[in-house]
Amino acid sequence: MMIGQRIGTPLSTSATRVMLLGAGELGKEVIIALQRLGVEVIAVDRYPNAPGHQVAHRSHVIDMTDAKTLRALVEKERPHLIVPEIEAIATDALAAIETEGVAEVIPTARATQLTMNREGIRRLAAEELGLPTSPYAFADSIDELKAGIAKVGYPCVVKPVMSSSGKGQSVLRSDADVEPAWQYAMAGGRVNHGRVIVEGFINFEYEITQLTVRAIDSATQQTVTCFCEPIGHVQVAGDYVESWQPQPMSPRALERSRDIADKVTTALGGRGLFGVELFVRGDDVWFSEVSPRPHDTGLVTLASQRFSEFELHARAILGLPVDTTLRAPGASAVIYGGLDETGIAFEGVAQALAVPGADLRLFGKPESFVKRRMGVALATGSDIGEALQRAKQAAAAVKPVSTR
Ligand SMILES: Nc1ncnc2c1ncn2[C@@H]1O[C@H](COP(=O)(O)OP(=O)(O)O)[C@@H](O)[C@H]1O
Ligand SMILES: [Mg+2]
Repeated sequence: MMIGQRIGTPLSTSATRVMLLGAGELGKEVIIALQRLGVEVIAVDRYPNAPGHQVAHRSHVIDMTDAKTLRALVEKERPHLIVPEIEAIATDALAAIETEGVAEVIPTARATQLTMNREGIRRLAAEELGLPTSPYAFADSIDELKAGIAKVGYPCVVKPVMSSSGKGQSVLRSDADVEPAWQYAMAGGRVNHGRVIVEGFINFEYEITQLTVRAIDSATQQTVTCFCEPIGHVQVAGDYVESWQPQPMSPRALERSRDIADKVTTALGGRGLFGVELFVRGDDVWFSEVSPRPHDTGLVTLASQRFSEFELHARAILGLPVDTTLRAPGASAVIYGGLDETGIAFEGVAQALAVPGADLRLFGKPESFVKRRMGVALATGSDIGEALQRAKQAAAAVKPVSTR
């Protein structure tokens, strides 16, 4: 299929089929964007009624870390494009699918392999591309960890190489923290991999996500790199709670951020949107990590941009042109479940939406946990301060309640 040249009719033999691997809140928005362009969408997740399942043409529940199961589903559904939304996928199966030309993997199978493991992307960024990063070492045992800490010094951060959303991650300030950090990392890794990265702690002023799109330019048919305005965010225990756009930056820091984002996304290749995470202090910028897909802090773009990061991803993967224009200063604030229960309800929605410039996404997750992200409040304002105040006010108005 000539992606970018034509889009077929869903549920017919001419359909343009896209399979999402992972159908959470970010996948749900990508699916809605694809649906609007007349794409046939297949949503896959590891549990039933995931947010993206609820808006796709078809949905499947499988163990995506199982290569055989994944391959069988791809052969049954025959998608033109496979779009990973999460990291925990059998990337070796994706590599075979790509090599054999069964389907195209977004952005590339290699990008999904490199970014699912902190070691792959860190070595690419620091050792191959020469990008500035925190000092780091890898360790397979507590003794190796101690040797690594001797190199990077205190304070430092220990993370399982296979983990996300801050799981198994701790900040260490002295020798007394080493044993608990190792135990916590072993319990918090995605697969029982037993390997950690230790990073020197970067005392940044602020951190950003530089959303970067690799898309086909319609005039030249060449892949071009486009940048969104930088997104500032606050992380608590490795999970984002608020984000805003545009984050004010010095011209030099912005230039360095985009240079780093350009280099790392070019090295990963393919088409689509990437979330490049950077630490900034003054004019200094450090590369932290990159998602080869929409980023949770980029939920703000649903309010702040002409086209959200999800619409940009949908366009870019289909070979269509993108427009990264900012519409207005915006902000997002996360709504947590607050209770452990299935089938909860949300009160205060009317009050939230009565906040000027505010909007809401309730993800429709079947099961709530105290610290599970169940929704997000969005807002625009005359500046980021006003947008953030409105988003927080709207988020606070929404009350998850028990239905028992
Ligand atoms: N080396 C570091 N120095 C300072 N803060 C860090 C460092 N590494 C991580 N953090 C903080 O922890 C957050 C989560 O770390 P990250 O590596 O992005 O893990 P995850 O893959 O779980 O998102 C970062 O956004 C940042 O706020
Ligand atoms: Mg991160």
